[in-house]
Amino acid sequence: MSSNSTSTSTSHPFIVPNPSDLRSPCPALNALANHGYINRDGRNITVHALVEAMHEVYSLTKPLAYLLALAGVLLCGDGRTVDLHRLAKHNVIEHDASLSRQDTQPPNVYAPICADPILVSKLMRVSQNDFLVLSDLAVTRVIRESEALGGPLNPLRAEVGRAESALILQVFGGERLEVDKSVLCVWLVDGRLPESWQSPRGTVGIRTTVSVGRRIADVMDSIRNRERGRPSPLGPYHLTLFPLSRVLRSLMFGLTS
Ligand code: HEM
Repeated sequence: MSSNSTSTSTSHPFIVPNPSDLRSPCPALNALANHGYINRDGRNITVHALVEAMHEVYSLTKPLAYLLALAGVLLCGDGRTVDLHRLAKHNVIEHDASLSRQDTQPPNVYAPICADPILVSKLMRVSQNDFLVLSDLAVTRVIRESEALGGPLNPLRAEVGRAESALILQVFGGERLEVDKSVLCVWLVDGRLPESWQSPRGTVGIRTTVSVGRRIADVMDSIRNRERGRPSPLGPYHLTLFPLSRVLRSLMFGLTS
């Protein structure tokens, strides 16, 4: 297991980016740049650098790391490298209904890079515990998609959004997939890897990311079906979602003002 707390505080200290440094809407990549695992200026980041950094810090398997890195470099870069700010180009990889970033406001072509404190605060208040679990992220995704578009994202972007939540759960949630809110907050807002956090013990791969994403989709479908008064496809499991429906309603109508 790589002990991240040692490496971040010594060989890879957190340094606040200079105004000329480039950053992305992705908290994972911003943190890698802020700790010097990839170029701190956010420029000319190669596939190799991305893969090695994601493998070392977030314990991603090489196939998953390559998949993400190639998507970034081919879709938003020059085919060999990418500058972080280019990842913010709207509706390429970047999408509406992010958990922590505001949507792109037309006529802008690039999405906001920084986390929005109100969105982060709503995410943290989705549960009363000190940690977030899978259903908390699913509830928040339903709310954000409803706020942004009045309904679900298109299937491809919805899949990307769920994969991002699946990565949060696996990278920060340990075996129980329980994500410490204070750790998540620091990562989302400051792009910093907290010293209390350790890289995942096991690896995070394509298969588990798809499977956790599928579970998030099931919970999201169940919430939406309940809101429409249809029977839940999850069968008896839907009973455990009853409180979620109330959380959803209170967040949408109670806390949004
Ligand atoms: C080269 C690899 C990667 C690329 C190109 C990439 C790209 C992006 C982009 C463009 C976004 C903005 C999407 C949006 O919210 O509109 C994003 C968000 C996000 N990324 Fe990454 N990412 C990469 C790796 C990772 C890794 C390794 C993780 C997890 C450890 C991760 C976690 C997230 C999360 C959680 C969000 C959503 C933030 C939010 O909803 O507010 N990404 N990523």
